[in-house]
Amino acid sequence: MFLLETTTLILGTWLVMLILFSLRKDFLRKKQGQQLPPGPTPLPLLGNFMVQVNSRMFLKSLLKLREKFGSIYMIYLGPHPVVVLSGYQVLKEALVDQREEFSARGRMAVAEYILQGYGITASNGERWKQLRRFSLMTLRNFGMGKRSIEERIQEEARFLVEALRETKGLPFDPTFFFSRSVSNIICSVVFGNRFDYEDKRFLSLLRNINEIMRFMNSTLGLVFSCFSCVMKYLPGPHHRKLKNLVELKDFVRERVKIHQETLDPSSPRDFIDCFLTRMQQEKENPESEFHAENLVASTVNLFFAGTETVSTTLRYAFLILLKHPKIEDKVHQEIEHVIGRERRPALEDRSRMPYTDAVIHEVQRFADIIPTGLPRTVTQDVKLQGYTIPKGTDVYPLLTTTLHDPEQFSDPKCFNPGHFLDENGSFQKKEAFLPFSTGKRMCPGEGLARMELFLFFTTILQNFTLKPTRDPEDIDLTPELSTAGHLPRAYTLSVLPR
Ligand code: HEM
Repeated sequence: MFLLETTTLILGTWLVMLILFSLRKDFLRKKQGQQLPPGPTPLPLLGNFMVQVNSRMFLKSLLKLREKFGSIYMIYLGPHPVVVLSGYQVLKEALVDQREEFSARGRMAVAEYILQGYGITASNGERWKQLRRFSLMTLRNFGMGKRSIEERIQEEARFLVEALRETKGLPFDPTFFFSRSVSNIICSVVFGNRFDYEDKRFLSLLRNINEIMRFMNSTLGLVFSCFSCVMKYLPGPHHRKLKNLVELKDFVRERVKIHQETLDPSSPRDFIDCFLTRMQQEKENPESEFHAENLVASTVNLFFAGTETVSTTLRYAFLILLKHPKIEDKVHQEIEHVIGRERRPALEDRSRMPYTDAVIHEVQRFADIIPTGLPRTVTQDVKLQGYTIPKGTDVYPLLTTTLHDPEQFSDPKCFNPGHFLDENGSFQKKEAFLPFSTGKRMCPGEGLARMELFLFFTTILQNFTLKPTRDPEDIDLTPELSTAGHLPRAYTLSVLPR
């Protein structure tokens, strides 16, 4: 007990010093005549966290501060200064017009703790450049945007239809139905194989991913994110939650080992094989970023991002359709008209299915699953709309504010596929549609995600009619958690074969 108290005291003192130091630095910058973005006055230790920024209503608090301070403002999350950007115009001026300056990744406490700055998502500088280039190239070579991956998704969609048939019209929770199928696509790309839906290890990994997602969006997760420098040394329930990611990492390590034992560089099977081959080619180069830590971390990044995002979007999509059966009817009609019942949906159908395409876009806009975007950092002092953002300051690009931009979406709070249709019923793109973000760090999985969303969505609706287990009037579409991520509320549904 004594040891724990002493450790807490030492760490507490260290934290206070750290905060005083960072506040002093900020003060000095102001004195040098640079105009920092406005923002609420931070308290020692907490910054604005728990005061103006409520952990339970994290996103709402950020949007409320926008009303007061405008589209660019600065807050402190614990000791960390963060500049928050809102609105399509400001995001474009930052992430696109100054793409190089805004290209670095900001602090991601969970990823830092487990992956120690390795891997594509949390790295910066030369490491990130090499890993990003390599990942994009390898994803492309393994069929992203090509026919082969389309066939893989079509095959997986058939497995999903089989699994849904086995529910025999009884109510079920769709969470793991979607995540198993979606995850199997990225598994085929990175591990070279899919998993059986009953595979216990696979199911346990999917539960881990779901748990980690919930943790990152919980109050505890936000507290960890603000004070990780202290919390990682303190006992508490966060360690149990973080263990989920450790298990994911262990699994990837095992897979890498198996790949190493069976590697044939002349015939790479997947992402891991390509990375191992590159490691061999560069083994004499001490500067090389192609080493085991970056391999494991990048694979964890792809596995995690490739599973949770698309399956959360699909889960949201079907909840929305349960609430709006008339929209479901119109999608059924379009599928019937363009694809029919016999042939499996293919990507080339998309251009002839403007209504379905608009519904999927509107699902992504409305579900808004990463409302705060992933944090960025500026690589040098930058000017934005007259303010200076000092080098190394974290930036939160609030993607939600572009997805709800009233100038581009007439009724931003409502689900309305008309947002993506012109007066002739043709599909129309919207500049502010940025669920995958924009600029140098924008999502490298966009192409794959869009293919999956279209093929899984249409294949399910080609085969089934959805049946709610409660009155559609009572279905609540507001997210269960609304922090840095949006997750739909838990629900059940039944599906009736068509
Ligand atoms: C509906 C699906 C998806 C959405 C909404 C989404 C959204 C995002 C967003 C907002 C970012 C942050 C970009 C930034 O910093 O500006 C991101 C990054 C990333 N996404 Fe996705 N994503 C999706 C699917 C995928 C898939 C399928 C993969 C895997 C192939 C993937 C892999 C990644 C990776 C590796 C990054 C980090 C990129 C970097 O730091 O350079 N994502 N995603």
